[in-house]
Amino acid sequence: MKILIVDDNEINVILLEEVLKEKGYETYSFLNPLEALKSLETNQYDLAFIDYMMPEMNGVELIKKIKEKDKEIICIMVTAVNSNETKLEALKVGANEFLSKPIDTAEIIIRVENSEKVIKSNKILKDYSHTLEKEVKEATKKLMAAEYETLSALSNVAEYRDEDTHLHTKRVAFYSNIIAQKAGLDEETKDLLFYAAPLHDIGKIGIADNILLKPGKLTDEEFEIMKTHTIIGYDMLKDFPNNKYLKAGAEVAITHHEKFNGRGYPYGLKGDEIDIKGQIVAIADVFDALTSVRPYKKAWPVEKAFNLIEEELGQQFNPFFGQIFLDNKDEVLEIYNKYKD
Ligand SMILES: [Fe+2]
Ligand SMILES: [Fe+2]
Repeated sequence: MKILIVDDNEINVILLEEVLKEKGYETYSFLNPLEALKSLETNQYDLAFIDYMMPEMNGVELIKKIKEKDKEIICIMVTAVNSNETKLEALKVGANEFLSKPIDTAEIIIRVENSEKVIKSNKILKDYSHTLEKEVKEATKKLMAAEYETLSALSNVAEYRDEDTHLHTKRVAFYSNIIAQKAGLDEETKDLLFYAAPLHDIGKIGIADNILLKPGKLTDEEFEIMKTHTIIGYDMLKDFPNNKYLKAGAEVAITHHEKFNGRGYPYGLKGDEIDIKGQIVAIADVFDALTSVRPYKKAWPVEKAFNLIEEELGQQFNPFFGQIFLDNKDEVLEIYNKYKD
């Protein structure tokens, strides 16, 4: 234990030092409270004996200042003044104990030993709460990882029946993420979008094979059925109030085919009526569909797909997000090349 002694009376200091050193404690003594305070900048003490009557600063003020710098130091005020008022004042600023003058050496030892016990149990408590905190963090991390795995499994499910769109959901998530990052969306929305985007087509599970996997162009009637994948996806994900990713997935599923000008489906929502995540996924989804091979079409060259996005700014797509997508072609192409089918 490192013990600080502050007393303007040298004899008291010597007395305390002797008693404490004999018991093997390290002592640091100051006759001047200001110097003692200064030493706190470079030294850490466990315990402090503070005299009450000192010329530069009384013991109460000093304890107050010490506690401001390090509230863990146990402060014992040494005083000949037996006024309750002074003691109350000292307690208020954080004094832990009192030692009356003239000093009794046996009492010093008992006080120090008691304090040592308190310090030790405080340390154990502190270590324990650190360990607990660490464990909670670990457990939360594991839970999050498990949640992300469930979401990935769900997006695998979404992809599985639709072999031609293998990796499609992944690319859509990454393209969407580029827009969200550059648009400066808040962390929460970016996170939700990244994990919800792969779920946009999950409703396709509910579409019959003869329509979903039809190699040619869909008839009007078939296309009407195909459109319901938005509502099916929403219905699948909407009722899990404790899982914000599923809720976001539901929002993306129902809005990713809406168009900025109101000509999309299923509801013909316009502009800001469309969930912001859906507006972003719409751009990523169309770009990826265009640049991928589908049963009924070849893959478009990327430049042609970029041109279409540009033409549709303010029409099919939110012009702000669409422009961001176009302004970051390098990053888009990086994803395009990295996750090629
Ligand atoms: Fe879709
Ligand atoms: Fe899609």
